[in-house]
Amino acid sequence: MSFEALWRELLPIGRHPETGGYRRFTYTPAELECREWFRRTAQARDLAVETDRNGNLWAWWGEPAPGSVVTGSHLDSVPDGGAYDGPLGVVSGFAAIDLLRERGFTPRRSIAVVAFAEEEGGRFGVACLGSRLLCGEISPDRARALTDPSGVTLAEAMASAGLDPERIGRDDTLLSRIGSYVELHIEQGRAQADLDAPIAVGTGIWPHGRWRLEFTGEANHAGTTRLDDRRDPMLTYANTVLAARKKARLAGALATVGRVVCEPNGTNAVPSRVLAWLDARAPSDEVLDRVVEEIERASAERAQRDGTGFVMRQESYSPAVQFDPALTDRIVRVLGGVPTLGTGAGHDAGVLAGHVPAAMLFVRNPTGVSHAPAEHATMADCAAGVNALATVLEALAQ
Ligand code: GLV
Ligand code: MN
Ligand code: MN
Repeated sequence: MSFEALWRELLPIGRHPETGGYRRFTYTPAELECREWFRRTAQARDLAVETDRNGNLWAWWGEPAPGSVVTGSHLDSVPDGGAYDGPLGVVSGFAAIDLLRERGFTPRRSIAVVAFAEEEGGRFGVACLGSRLLCGEISPDRARALTDPSGVTLAEAMASAGLDPERIGRDDTLLSRIGSYVELHIEQGRAQADLDAPIAVGTGIWPHGRWRLEFTGEANHAGTTRLDDRRDPMLTYANTVLAARKKARLAGALATVGRVVCEPNGTNAVPSRVLAWLDARAPSDEVLDRVVEEIERASAERAQRDGTGFVMRQESYSPAVQFDPALTDRIVRVLGGVPTLGTGAGHDAGVLAGHVPAAMLFVRNPTGVSHAPAEHATMADCAAGVNALATVLEALAQ
């Protein structure tokens, strides 16, 4: 089946009719439908499908054995995400297998396509949760207790999807099977468009993390409470957003506050509580540590002046990643010298890189927009991605 035909099957699932963005949150009906699609697609190709203990999906061409070549990505999305972030790598994995079979290739090492669970942390807050669990990078107890915005725990969500949350955690058997992991992903900035390169190879990922910020104050009447008498957490929050932007700019880092909850959220009342989430990224772990510390200090000082409470807590952290240099060099050679680039976007390949040889292929994104409905890649570039991935899998599996 062509890439395009396979791609079209997945497109309607979880797409919001008004925004055109995807809402494929882990273990919700839309994401479960994507999982069904994965199973059907694998079965139609005679690939053995398994869901591992951590909710990640695997499709095997050949016996699951040590030294296998694994490709894939994720099927979940950010709120109103684009179609490509994640699914492009999974669809391309299946399409590359189709292409290799058309070429009459018989792999000497087994090849697997994987879809990691909860890569975006869009439901339970921790990015790359499925790959972190597989690699033992988060404790099973902490993971089980993570909650979604309505208070449902990961353990409850897994159980309702028919999975046993008691079995989650590092999976040495499965890890030992991964001889190499190559994730294909849409590029999430403008780097390749500027280089006029449909395909590029990833060199590394900026360190990045997420922090939960809680601002507390005193709910009161908007029309009768004198400004001097207020303890308004919205002020401390607003100042934090501005401080984050400034500290990041001065350090050559990035800081984003893209999620906020205000309570009780009334037009004519001073709020009692504002919850917000900071996403911060930087070229090095040292710079990131410093920027986050500076933001925390500025917010704490402001809270004191506003008479509000301020508590900041790290929710996830991904240190700087360098992809396997030997694997990366080999892929560049096999593809005949494509450009290499680093990225500020997080990926399961970054988590796996601490445990197995991992590398990434990027497909050009002409507008550079990502984590938004306008995210796009041309069909010609997607086809070039499938071709490149097939060439890489062939080299690694023969
Ligand atoms: C994942 O896409 C991330 O970089 O947050
Ligand atoms: Mn993403
Ligand atoms: Mn992604």
